[in-house]
Amino acid sequence: MFVQDVVLSEKDFRKISDLVYKHCGINLHAGKKELVRARLAKRLRNGNFKTFPEYMKHVMEDKTGEEFSVLIDSLSTNLTAFFREKQHFEFMHDSLLPRLMDRKRKDRNFKIRCWSAGCSSGEEPYSIAITLHEAVERQGRWDVKVLATDISTRVLQKAREGVYEQERVAPVPTLQKNKYLVLRQQDGQKVFEAGKILKETVIFKYLNLQKEWPIRVPVDFIFCRNVMIYFDKPTQQRLINRFWELLSPGGILFTGHSESLTGIEHRFDYIQPTIYMKA
Ligand SMILES: C[S@@+](CC[C@H](N)C(=O)[O-])C[C@H]1O[C@@H](n2cnc3c(N)ncnc32)[C@H](O)[C@@H]1O
Repeated sequence: MFVQDVVLSEKDFRKISDLVYKHCGINLHAGKKELVRARLAKRLRNGNFKTFPEYMKHVMEDKTGEEFSVLIDSLSTNLTAFFREKQHFEFMHDSLLPRLMDRKRKDRNFKIRCWSAGCSSGEEPYSIAITLHEAVERQGRWDVKVLATDISTRVLQKAREGVYEQERVAPVPTLQKNKYLVLRQQDGQKVFEAGKILKETVIFKYLNLQKEWPIRVPVDFIFCRNVMIYFDKPTQQRLINRFWELLSPGGILFTGHSESLTGIEHRFDYIQPTIYMKA
């Protein structure tokens, strides 16, 4: 059977979208039906499932949750890039880190903790780690860590490997590329791998933003960019308020370019578009 021949009924589409919404907050409205059909049809074909009900039965009966992960992986969008939304990294370098380090020095606290929530294949947290190391270099003994989480086990595996094709690392300035990435050959191609210092700084973990967050320490800043766009307003509001609780006073939240907090009840101070502070 060809991928284009697999039929997704209205009832099956609703069942899938309800399940995905309940589990991870992703809002698959009616306009997404063809996307869902096309993406999952490939999985049906590869797994030899003849119909959507047969496939969904398998998803529900798989108590390991592995097939559900595959389903979420096929439906989530993982688009990302090194130094995406450059103004966030400029803000980190010019404003956030100098202020944060001044304040922490006074308290004799040399730890900086941040979270990349919805980190995809690692480009975002590695860009944060590069910016952090550049800021703390020759500034005494700082301990910097980036927690990087995602719901997709497929992208997390790629992120942990940290191997990127040449064109993907183009946004990394040459100086930093030479300092933090390792050039090597893979299958006759030049690739760049995140170096030891980056891999030691970034800790990748599976985390569903809609569930418990096993994060105990307050966080200095959070990147949650281009993730909430898939959630509806009530889900976004809950998430934003949970981020507020987790941030330390003065902590910063970065959101994606089309994710303003307009229309959401929250306690953040607006700093500049897509940058918010817990006062
Ligand atoms: C478009 S990518 C954004 C990556 C990166 N933050 C950026 O802006 O370049 C969105 C990521 O959010 C993840 N995601 C979607 N729903 C999630 C959830 N409920 N919990 C955790 N991660 C989720 C997806 O798997 C995907 O990797």
